[in-house]
Amino acid sequence: TQNATDALRTPIVAVLGHVDHGKTSLLDKIRGSAVSEGEAGAITQHIGATAVPLETVSTMAGSLVDPDDFDLPGLLFIDTPGHHSFTTLRSRGGALADIAILVVDVNDGFQPQTEEAIDILKRTGTPFVVAANKIDTTPGWNPQDGAPIQQTYEAQSQRARSMLDERLYEIIGQLSDSGFSADLYWRVQNFQKNVGVVPLSALTSEGIPDLLAVLMGLSQRYMKDEMAIDVSGPGAGTVLEVKDEKGFGATLDVVLYDGVIRAGDQIVVGGTNEPIVTEVRALLQPRPNAEIRTEKRFDKVEQVGAAAGVKIAAPDLDDAMAGAPVRVVRDRPLDDVVEEVRKELAQI
Ligand code: GTP
Ligand code: MG
Repeated sequence: TQNATDALRTPIVAVLGHVDHGKTSLLDKIRGSAVSEGEAGAITQHIGATAVPLETVSTMAGSLVDPDDFDLPGLLFIDTPGHHSFTTLRSRGGALADIAILVVDVNDGFQPQTEEAIDILKRTGTPFVVAANKIDTTPGWNPQDGAPIQQTYEAQSQRARSMLDERLYEIIGQLSDSGFSADLYWRVQNFQKNVGVVPLSALTSEGIPDLLAVLMGLSQRYMKDEMAIDVSGPGAGTVLEVKDEKGFGATLDVVLYDGVIRAGDQIVVGGTNEPIVTEVRALLQPRPNAEIRTEKRFDKVEQVGAAAGVKIAAPDLDDAMAGAPVRVVRDRPLDDVVEEVRKELAQI
């Protein structure tokens, strides 16, 4: 029912991996955009957030995801940069994640920021799947646009198949060296104990249906096991970026990971000197499937529930910091919330 869906928190899916291994391209395919092409030197330099509705997921996944099997409203994808200088942003993305996709280029295998991402996922205890990307670059590949991986495999020559298998087993070996028992995803029974590897291509979309099916399964299980179903509490989030917007002044791009935020709410935001206490003037939500980082059109809404990307307009945000916490005060003593924000700030 509508109410049940409203009560469920959208899982946050972080996309991590080495530079150029195809994180943004993968998200572009899933949401039907071309964000990667607009990036200077195709390098991502910020964290992004995109709400992908269940409808889109099931359309992309075809017969592999039946929307009737899931109560989730969709998935909130967090894009992160792979360039070595953005360690802080990767940690921030990892800290937000309920589950993660580790993107690995099948030609390159594990690289320094792959290892770094693995360390973040270990530290935060985040379950993840591996997207073994760029399978279309296998010599002699016969692309099957948008097909599930089994169908693609059947269309390949013996030679192409075994070349890809060799690369995949190398990645599985590297995962094992990092302490994870991993296998091709169709051989994995328990995705919280073992890491599933999904061969795919962000160029031809082959294998993306499989990835989405695995993610949905993992999310659904995660929701049931660990997630609070009640998301009506005071909102909590993390600032992705502080941006000037015409007519609003300094605004915050925020990932709301818990609770609800409403227009008019008193909020506390981490600032360069002191926590900032202010009041939400407007909540601006990117449209479904839009990347908050590049989106120009936002819908003005009265309230937003977790998880979501949202732009917050409020007075006095000039000193707000990327990475800082945002807390809705609601019916709690203001001093307590200020103290909570101050404590969290000390840790970042
Ligand atoms: P950073 O955000 O800078 O870490 O890079 P990224 O991981 O987001 O990589 P991005 O999606 O920008 O892709 C890097 C390059 O790889 C681009 O030129 C893409 O077109 C190319 N690419 C990505 N996925 C595939 C794929 O599946 N096959 C092929 N052939 N090329 C791909
Ligand atoms: Mg990128």
